Amino acid sequence: MTTKELVPGLAGIPAAESAVSYIDGEIGILEYRGYKIEDLSAHATYEECAWLLLYGELPKAAELAAFSKDLERLRVLPDELIAMLKAMPKGAHPMRALQASLAGLGMVSPAVNLKDAASRDEAARRVIAATPVLVAAWERIRSGKEYVAPKAGLSTAANFLWCLDGKQPSEIASRTLDCALVLHAEHTMNASTFACRVVASTMNDPYTSCSAAVGALFGPLHGGANEVVLKQLETIGKRENVAAWYAAKREKKEKVMGFGHRVYKTKDPRAFNLQRLAQQLFKELGTTPLYDIALALEELVTADLGPRGIYPNVDFFSGLVYQKMGLHTDVFTPIFAMARVSGYCAHWLEQMLDNKLFRPGQVYTGHRERTWKALEQR
Ligand code: CMC
Repeated sequence: MTTKELVPGLAGIPAAESAVSYIDGEIGILEYRGYKIEDLSAHATYEECAWLLLYGELPKAAELAAFSKDLERLRVLPDELIAMLKAMPKGAHPMRALQASLAGLGMVSPAVNLKDAASRDEAARRVIAATPVLVAAWERIRSGKEYVAPKAGLSTAANFLWCLDGKQPSEIASRTLDCALVLHAEHTMNASTFACRVVASTMNDPYTSCSAAVGALFGPLHGGANEVVLKQLETIGKRENVAAWYAAKREKKEKVMGFGHRVYKTKDPRAFNLQRLAQQLFKELGTTPLYDIALALEELVTADLGPRGIYPNVDFFSGLVYQKMGLHTDVFTPIFAMARVSGYCAHWLEQMLDNKLFRPGQVYTGHRERTWKALEQR
């Protein structure tokens, strides 16, 4: 079949059959394997959520315990990989470092037998286990600190914080991050998941597929927005500046970061949850003036663009949560990535089970059958 009509951005065009997650963008529903994001963020740990995404069912107690042990084992990074991180340019953005590190993880891991379920599982689990450690390791190494090895007995979230600081994290920090990881773990056929599946479709392992996905996630129209949102709030500076700042943006026809979505035409359900998480954190640790600015901006943008289906998305409140936890702004997108690798791996497994090479068509707009001109005639 040759489709002649171009659909820019492939908007609404199905790229695969998938049973991993579901969105209803009109009413703002997100489900992982049929479970509502509100229930998962209230009850599930990130490990439960990762298992659910990979295998389609909530884990039984013994399965969860064995999975957690497995992640603990696979978190340990080989010395060669740490040496690679130490050799990378210290000024590199953490997303660039993560993309390279995931490719590096593939270099130091056993070759994946794509036809063997156990080999596929082990590789997917290694990506999920190692990614947060890679993010934390880069955070320390780039600032001249020693690498902190993972600590046994900690959850993914708590271990990430441990590897960042070398200190036992507070209960509230671990709990908040765990919930944020659940909220970011999966989101249907977005740009980075599609990138992951495209690379997977060439019969490639999850290291290369997830490394490509991280490259796609980095851009400010996708996961990179959370970093820009915080800078945007800082640029606005105070609540009284919001109206003038927004009027200038509208005048220049520029987008407001953290608003709008290809699928949601209502407030992103993850934004509600992240806002609640931010409020809980502010109650315990004190608020931030940036939250006031965010509320005023939401009110203004929603009143203006809400009728066009433009509302806050997942990236609008997440940065406020991470900033309150003391994390650097340029680590916000890597945190998104370290959660999302479980979704990528679930899609990678799906792609392996029913693969067809992605090779779309194009609408050709160039010249045809031109006459060759020698150099002196041009
Ligand atoms: N601010 C102002 N106008 C907007 C915005 C926005 N944030 N988003 C869309 N619009 C307008 C846009 O200017 C365009 O207007 P017109 O028809 O007059 O030219 C119209 O809405 C359609 O925009 P589009 O960019 O063609 O639509 P899309 O479906 O490609 O948009 C989007 C999705 C996320 C790229 C876009 O909303 C955007 O750029 N938002 C800001 C960046 C952002 O917050 N990204 C995070 C997305 S959620 C996290 C994730 O999963 O990646």
